Amino acid sequence: MSSKIKAGVLGCTGAVGQKLISLLGNHPLFEVTEVAASDNSAGIKYSERVNWKEASDIPVAVKNLTIKKCSEELDAKILFSGLDSNVAGEIEEFYASKGYAVVSNSKNHRMSADVPLIIPEVNYTHFDLIHKQESYKKSGGFIVTNPNCSTVVLAVTLYPVYKKFGLKKVMVTTMQAISGAGYPGIPSMDILGNVVPHIKDEEDKMQTEPLKIFGTIEGKEVIFADFKISASCNRVPVRDGHTMSISFETEKKTSKDEIVNSFGEYENLGLPSSPETVLKYFSDPFRPQPLLDGMSGGGMTVSAGNLRKCNILDWKINAFGHNTIRGAAGAAILNAEYLVKNKFVK
Ligand SMILES: NC(=O)c1ccc[n+]([C@@H]2O[C@H](COP(=O)([O-])OP(=O)(O)OC[C@H]3O[C@@H](n4cnc5c(N)ncnc54)[C@H](OP(=O)(O)O)[C@@H]3O)[C@@H](O)[C@H]2O)c1
Repeated sequence: MSSKIKAGVLGCTGAVGQKLISLLGNHPLFEVTEVAASDNSAGIKYSERVNWKEASDIPVAVKNLTIKKCSEELDAKILFSGLDSNVAGEIEEFYASKGYAVVSNSKNHRMSADVPLIIPEVNYTHFDLIHKQESYKKSGGFIVTNPNCSTVVLAVTLYPVYKKFGLKKVMVTTMQAISGAGYPGIPSMDILGNVVPHIKDEEDKMQTEPLKIFGTIEGKEVIFADFKISASCNRVPVRDGHTMSISFETEKKTSKDEIVNSFGEYENLGLPSSPETVLKYFSDPFRPQPLLDGMSGGGMTVSAGNLRKCNILDWKINAFGHNTIRGAAGAAILNAEYLVKNKFVK
């Protein structure tokens, strides 16, 4: 019998759900025993229903699973959620109330006071918020979330700077991949040879989520970081990976060398999905690029390049991260690995 922890994937047919299933295919801690999606998919064999878009084959253990409804009891301890945000909120609460550990990619609970919003290398102490959740007290179930796919790139790039020198102001302009909109996403007629200068709710997420992630726990509350972020978000015809141009002003004045040195100070958490390098810095001004750096660290490394003086704020830098791996499925799996290592899930 397998000693791995039984895992379910909610939203198993979507872009994030497929990436979760693909990354969990040969995972040392988890085995996928359940897949669930909308009522339209329920009752159908996974391989017959999914429009599989991953480069690897559907894992053998998953392809014959019958898709369940997201209201059924599932033979799993931990549930990875890649649910459409129109329905994720209630479904995730339902499963948490029934005693499941829910690790979510959706926006619905990210900013709730008792829900951890986690990048483990930045704020694993926030996992303690789980103890505040009513479901945890009653059934042992809980919800944890990972940030929006652009927020992760911004936050991983700026956290060392914030920690060492403080931040006053941040301006960021994104160039986001089409896979960030799920499948089939934006019609090809709208995106090929084009730039779409608006992504619904994205600016708000980027302007608020990093402040929670960088916040400190006082008592049982997160006290948000206190600096200003202005974000402009654009969809560009790139398949995978979000690129961004970031300008920032620090509290304490510093030098380029000191900032670049701070990027190497991330602690490697030693989890199965931990990348060797959390934040990779290029002095080459032509890097990072989606085609060259997308799969750096198995898609879990955030890349940054060309730190230079800014004429308005103090500094500017380019940054990049894989949106469905570091920005979604890989982030959720990293959170789940942390939960297992620290006995929140046994
Ligand atoms: N794509 C990214 O890069 C990314 C990054 C970070 C976070 N996210 C977030 O992750 C979530 C999933 O994104 P995605 O891009 O994978 O979306 P997607 O491709 O549209 O997939 C949505 C999934 O939700 C399921 N679903 C829809 N309505 C449902 C219902 N009423 N009951 C149960 N399941 C239902 C769909 O199942 P059916 O096939 O049965 O309809 C599908 O499996 C979203 O909340 C998104 O904001 C996405």
